[in-house]
Amino acid sequence: MTPEDMQFYGEFAPALEANEKIMLTEVQRILDSISTDSETRLAEHIKSRIKSSGSLCEKLERQGLPVSAESGLRDLSDIIGLRVVTHFVGDIYTVLEKIENSTVWRVVTVKDYIANSKPNGYRSLHVILALPFGVGGIEEIRTEIQLRTIAMDCWASLEHQLKYKKNIGNTELIVSELKRCADEMASTDLSMQTIRDLIHKGD
Ligand code: GTP
Ligand code: MG
Repeated sequence: MTPEDMQFYGEFAPALEANEKIMLTEVQRILDSISTDSETRLAEHIKSRIKSSGSLCEKLERQGLPVSAESGLRDLSDIIGLRVVTHFVGDIYTVLEKIENSTVWRVVTVKDYIANSKPNGYRSLHVILALPFGVGGIEEIRTEIQLRTIAMDCWASLEHQLKYKKNIGNTELIVSELKRCADEMASTDLSMQTIRDLIHKGD
C-alpha cells in the first residue's frame, strides 16, 4: 500500500494486508496440493492487490455510496483481489472445487463468465468470498478471486489498455473485432485443453 492508501484505510490497513496474505497463502496451498511437480504447475502466475484509494473512491461515487473506507469494506467485494492465471481452462474448475472446500473462507458467489461470457467477450471465473474481519465493528469482509487462463488474461489486459485510449472512432467495428478476438482465444483455449487431454490420456 502507498502511504496515501495507508492513510485512507487507516485502522483497517493492517487487517487488509493481513487478509491479503491469508488469501495468498491459502491459494498457494491449494495450488501446491494439486501439483507439487514444477513441470505440471497449474498456475502461470498469481497476483494480488488492495484497491487503491483513488479507484475505491471513484467506484463508491459511481455507485452512489458514501465515500469512505468503511463503506467500501461493507458494500464492495473487491477491496482485496487475487488473480490466478492458469494454463488450461480445466484447471480453473479444479482450483474452484478446492476454493469451495477451504475452511479459511466461505464462498458467497461464483460468477462464471467463462460459461456465460460478457457481451464484449470478457471471460473469467469470479469467486466472491467472505472472510472474518473484526476491525471497527466490521465482522466480515468480501473479497474476490478471479481465475482465468493465460489467453483470457491476455485479452482482458489488452482490452483494458484499449479502453483507456481516447478518441476511438469506429466504435462498433472495434467492439465487434474485440469480441471476435475473445471468441477466437476461447476457441484456442478449448483446443489446447483437448491436446492436453490427449497427451495425458490414461494418466
Ligand atoms: P466492477 O466491474 O469492478 O464495477 O464490479 P462488478 O460487480 O460489476 O463485477 P464484475 O464481475 O462485472 O467485474 C469485476 C472485475 O472483473 C473488474 O474489476 C475487472 O477486473 C474484471 N472485469 C469485468 N469485466 C471486464 C471487462 O469487460 N474487461 C476487463 N478487462 N476486465 C473486466
Ligand atoms: Mg462490472
